[in-house]
Amino acid sequence: MYTQSFNVQDSSAGLKSVPPPAVENPEAQARFDHKIDADGKIEPQDWMPDGYRKTLVRQISQHAHSEIVGMLPEGNWISRAPSLKRKAILIAKVQDEGGHGLYLYSAAETLGTSRDQMLEALHSGKAKYSSIFNYPTLNWADVGVIGWLVDGAAISNQIPLCRCSYGPYARAMIRVCKEESFHQRQGYEALLTMMGGTEAQKAMVQDAVNRWWWKCLAMFGPPDADSPHSAQAMRWGIKRISNDDLRQKFIDATVPQARVLGVTLPDPDLKWNEERQHHDYGTIDWDEFWSTVNGNGPCNKERLATRVKAHNDGQWVRDAALAYSSKQHNKSLKDAA
Ligand code: 3HC
Repeated sequence: MYTQSFNVQDSSAGLKSVPPPAVENPEAQARFDHKIDADGKIEPQDWMPDGYRKTLVRQISQHAHSEIVGMLPEGNWISRAPSLKRKAILIAKVQDEGGHGLYLYSAAETLGTSRDQMLEALHSGKAKYSSIFNYPTLNWADVGVIGWLVDGAAISNQIPLCRCSYGPYARAMIRVCKEESFHQRQGYEALLTMMGGTEAQKAMVQDAVNRWWWKCLAMFGPPDADSPHSAQAMRWGIKRISNDDLRQKFIDATVPQARVLGVTLPDPDLKWNEERQHHDYGTIDWDEFWSTVNGNGPCNKERLATRVKAHNDGQWVRDAALAYSSKQHNKSLKDAA
């Protein structure tokens, strides 16, 4: 449903203007600017402004954390999946999310930050991860809706990142998007099956859609006028499409899918605007969004505690892997002597 053809003309309408950067190294800066203007890729060994590096570390590490924390709401349902087929699909999907986190941590490491630093920031509550993973998964339909809407929103945001100016991030995103596309389809297919079932199953799907719809719209981030990072990130070719434009594209793509599925999207103001050639939609509750982003959503504390416990419980695995690798290293030194 979402493919590379989702790419559209880059846009920056509605964003604040970007002040010229403070020049730390004029010649290197000129080479960097030239590459960005020519839509080239910046690689780890290339000179880059500090702000560019910091923005990438912030965004890529937050993205990695989102993938890892994002394993938790659906992981809860692996043992309760309604059939062996659904269980196998869900295990594969949750495992994919773990893999995405690992590619993304690796991409961030190429910028000079360590995995330990990033994990410390997550576990101490300093680093952000996506707001969407702080809501509960109450029934099986939530798993389908996460695939359809949450992964659908994630892909809409991530396809343009395949063209990000930073090479390692862009390349990681190509594989991530292919896998996310499978995640979105499996969610939609699970919901189609439920909508062909009993009245109780149909009601579960509608209830899950009602609870997740607005949270998914907020996932794209604050409105462009309130997004402090967007203008600079777009100038640097990190972001290609603004938060509001992506949100609009997601809504326009999702409305016909909801119609086929037979569910109602819970927004009385949602309607096609002939003049704009887009859907109009109601007001997102940004107070609720910021409260969740700032640690006060319904599951923030539980998610972080589960994540920290999983990390601590895995210490013996990391110790064993390091002991094995040091043993192998010593053996190869001995053999070479
Ligand atoms: N949840 C939590 N924080 C959010 C957020 C969200 N949904 N949207 C924005 N924010 C935060 C930003 O991180 C920033 O905080 P900071 O200054 O402390 O870092 C602040 O709000 C202001 O927002 P901006 O729009 O100015 O920030 P960005 O330019 O970074 O845009 C973004 C936000 C669109 C999320 C961008 O960072 C991005 O595209 N990131 C990469 C994709 C990503 O991280 N997706 C998360 C979901 S991954 C996922 O869903 C996994 C999948 O398997 C389902």
